Amino acid sequence: MSFTIAIDGPAAAGKGTISKAVAAHFGFAHLDTGLLYRAVGAKMLAGVEPLEAAQTLIAEDLENDAHLRTADVAQAASRVAVIPEVRAALLDFQRAFARRAGGAVLDGRDIGTVICPQAEAKLFVTASAEVRAERRFLELTEKGGLATREDVLRDVKERDARDMNRADAPLKPAVDAVIIDTSALSIADAIAAAITAVEAKRI
Ligand code: DC
Repeated sequence: MSFTIAIDGPAAAGKGTISKAVAAHFGFAHLDTGLLYRAVGAKMLAGVEPLEAAQTLIAEDLENDAHLRTADVAQAASRVAVIPEVRAALLDFQRAFARRAGGAVLDGRDIGTVICPQAEAKLFVTASAEVRAERRFLELTEKGGLATREDVLRDVKERDARDMNRADAPLKPAVDAVIIDTSALSIADAIAAAITAVEAKRI
């Protein structure tokens, strides 16, 4: 039996952490769809044409997590994500993953709206741009990065604007999504809110 949990939201809202915890709680498989766009973005930075990169993506391309998580690759991902043909090339893989037996959690920007409009549970995880930038700043400096708070906030806002204003599959909550604002929530409370929202759809 399949059961799809769609988790969308802007960068650094806590989607990744919540998605992993929700998947572990229900024993579901998890796909971070942002990683697909990051892998395409990384290939573009390496000189490959974005559509070709999306059409020839293989599991190995998703493996260098440290590189894929850099700010440069994030910006490149957001740029290739604007191209409708790139999005189309990644669609079937995501839909097949969503319908796998045993349940699946997919997190991204357009899971509840475009990839899986029939998902049994939809969450939209968000937080203010300032809170998200502060989290990203702490994450980067912990890893020894040299970013300033201003740079990180500008990056977050730039990526939000591009993700929300693109013509194809813009970032927005599905009409039937449960909104979870994590600005003032601890990680544990945000995870608990997500699990409660999914439980309500499981009957
Ligand atoms: O979630 P993330 O920060 O890893 O995503 C990187 C970029 O990929 C993001 O700026 C927009 C794009 N993306 C998308 O357009 N659709 C998705 N389902 C996931 C990510």
